[in-house]
Amino acid sequence: MTHSPRILTHTGASRLAGVIGWPVDHSQSPRLHGYWLAHHGIDGAYVPLAVPPDRLAEALAGLPALGFSGANVTIPHKAAVIPLVHHVTAVARQIGAVNTLIVNGDGTITGTNTDAQGFLDNLKQQAPAWTPARPAAVIGAGGAARAVCAALIKAGVPEILLFNRTIDKAAELAESLRIHRAAAIFPLPLTGGMWKARARDIGLMVNATALGMTGHPALELDLSVLQPDAVVADIVYAPLKTPLLVTAEQFGLTTVDGLGMLLHQARAGFSQWFGVMPEVTDELRAFVLSGINA
Ligand code: ATR
Repeated sequence: MTHSPRILTHTGASRLAGVIGWPVDHSQSPRLHGYWLAHHGIDGAYVPLAVPPDRLAEALAGLPALGFSGANVTIPHKAAVIPLVHHVTAVARQIGAVNTLIVNGDGTITGTNTDAQGFLDNLKQQAPAWTPARPAAVIGAGGAARAVCAALIKAGVPEILLFNRTIDKAAELAESLRIHRAAAIFPLPLTGGMWKARARDIGLMVNATALGMTGHPALELDLSVLQPDAVVADIVYAPLKTPLLVTAEQFGLTTVDGLGMLLHQARAGFSQWFGVMPEVTDELRAFVLSGINA
């Protein structure tokens, strides 16, 4: 179905959602949700909500007061909202971050995290042949790596090989996600003996750092040791084809880009707020990408 741009007029019954961040002007979420609202002809609005850290509590209290159905939460508020909401889902507690708020019928707010499910849904769409039978390697130990590890635990991978510049942070991540028995921790780069020794077992490797993003150095690595059926995923989506994904393609490996995770993680919130589970299509990808590259 082709999507033709049109002016949406809101009514007094429009459903409301938005994205709370500081700053928020680079967020792709208003474009993304705006596309789905237009595509489904829904009487709703999704707006940027620029909220400084010292007004976060007031802003959250304002959501039910203003009749919002909910909101996304982005940098720098993802951990800070946890003590400010009434209910926190198990997955958000596990990841230590909330990216989606639902205003319940009784005016309370539930905080959840859709990043892990978004990562898995995107993996299923872009690498349908992948199975969790073999260990996975995750590069990074920040917030994105926590969500990816939570996803991989849920999917049932037998072991996670955690590579990070700062070993202590990787150890902390494994401890707090309670995967220390199923995780092995290594320093970067991915060219040393440890990498070469373990890389042939890996079914999936995921870059969950900012390395490879525009303006950042690329991840130093040797992909020649991976099996031909290994999948290489990146959470970075600017550029869409990171140096890691370009190299993986040169080796004939299946690649999964970071834009898909961004799009898939948004589906659950949209469905809760606006009552329709939207799809991630090529047209949506092109639409959001044109905003990122603008
Ligand atoms: P996010 O929430 O996006 O994951 P973060 O919590 O700041 O961001 O985590 C950033 C991750 O990228 C970390 O794993 C960080 O490594 P350290 O734990 O050693 O800091 C990694 N990272 C960032 N810049 C890096 C660089 N130049 N080289 C190697 N790793 C880097």
